[in-house]
Amino acid sequence: MSEPPAGRLVGRLVVLGVSGSIAAYKAPDLVRLLQAEGAEVVALLTPSAERFVARLALEALTRHVVDGDVLGLLPDGRIGHIVAADSADVVVVAPATAHWLASMANGLAGDVVTATCLATSAPVVVAPAMDGEMYAHPATMANVARLRDGFGYRIVEPERGPLASGQSGLGRLAALPSIVDAVVAAAAGAPIRAADPAARPPLAGLPREADLTGRHLVVTAGGTAEPIDPVRIITNRSSGRMGVAVAEAALDRGARVTLIAAGVAVPLPDRATVIRTESTADLRATLLAAIGDRGEPARFDALVMAAAVSDFRPARPAPSKLARGERLTIELEPTPDILAEVHRIVAGLDVDGGTTRSAVLPRPILVGFAAETGSLDRAAAKLARKGLDFLVANDVAEPGSGFGTATNQVTIFRPDAPPDPWPLLPKREVADRLLDLVARRLDERDAADQTGRTAAMGAAAPAARRTEEIER
Ligand code: CTP
Repeated sequence: MSEPPAGRLVGRLVVLGVSGSIAAYKAPDLVRLLQAEGAEVVALLTPSAERFVARLALEALTRHVVDGDVLGLLPDGRIGHIVAADSADVVVVAPATAHWLASMANGLAGDVVTATCLATSAPVVVAPAMDGEMYAHPATMANVARLRDGFGYRIVEPERGPLASGQSGLGRLAALPSIVDAVVAAAAGAPIRAADPAARPPLAGLPREADLTGRHLVVTAGGTAEPIDPVRIITNRSSGRMGVAVAEAALDRGARVTLIAAGVAVPLPDRATVIRTESTADLRATLLAAIGDRGEPARFDALVMAAAVSDFRPARPAPSKLARGERLTIELEPTPDILAEVHRIVAGLDVDGGTTRSAVLPRPILVGFAAETGSLDRAAAKLARKGLDFLVANDVAEPGSGFGTATNQVTIFRPDAPPDPWPLLPKREVADRLLDLVARRLDERDAADQTGRTAAMGAAAPAARRTEEIER
């Protein structure tokens, strides 16, 4: 007996277009079968399909944003049907209604599914489903023939059986395994068109629980500005979007958030305590004040240092506006490494690494960001140098990743595991996945503290207290 076929679509991106037939209710099952073959699936809905199948069901199953608006843009600003068309290994339209077949046969790009088919050079598989008389009509027959013979689309013929009208006839959507087989056959032999996740449609974020309730997070965001004179500054291209996304995600998960904002080009969440800063010196002073003094209990549970901090600043900013001249040479001096300093404070270390001071307890989790260009080779050393729990590194030279974009492709560095490259994701999803790690690490910290206390007391320890309770 031969083995059942498995993984025939591994690495493939299958774009599933759904149009408005009652058989649209089978789309989630078709997604599952395609995924069982190893495919990444992206679903597109025509407006009438949205009345038969819930967008949320398809988003939850595919973990991709479901595009249903031919004129709309994806959350990351790209044109959905073009991204789908360019990255699909196969486009499969199931079910295809009589109306959809007619639109397609005439090249009418009025919905995302026809628009994607028109824009793609991938093979297209079409599985019609409708009432028997509608399917038998010469108009429909001519449209199907045009798709098959004129456009080279693979038609998965409907089956005979009971129809939604109560009648029986030729019009039922083909059995889902035969649609999957047609997709496999269409993809066979061709190289994967867009293996890079950055080229594929973005993943959708999934809502998280309020797992940071009672936690206090300090988040820094945006680019610092170093004065040259009272008018001019040296700054960088940071928009602050990533830090603001972390702050918003943390608020949505129940955390209290102090957002220390340098130059930020996006709206700030009003539920956060916002402190505005400009220069690295301001940011450092604000952050150190928020952390509190050595030896005090921790005032925060985690620091997410997403601010793009200047590494150099004018050594002597001019007290008045510099006048035009032949040439201007500005001497720059290095700024202090704020994150490394915060690490020393919380770990109770001296500048030379000695341990004469008391640590901040419970130990706050420290997260840094590193924007690199070309390679992430320096990230592991940065993680160690700054004593971080997590370093979120990205190559800002990569498309869709970096300053001002809505998406980011990051790699997570941590002391206890190998680097973990994440796919291209909306910044909000990067923020949520990062907070998944932070929340877990905080729970581990509290569990370890409690075990330590239990061992020290030789009896039941009090329940782990969260920072806010300690502050009271
Ligand atoms: N950072 C900081 N203080 C600085 C510079 C950076 O706290 N003076 C923080 C950033 O906010 C970021 C992390 O350190 O979270 C990494 O920043 P990055 O500029 O990549 O690291 P540097 O130590 O400045 O190393 P380099 O510039 O050589 O890449």
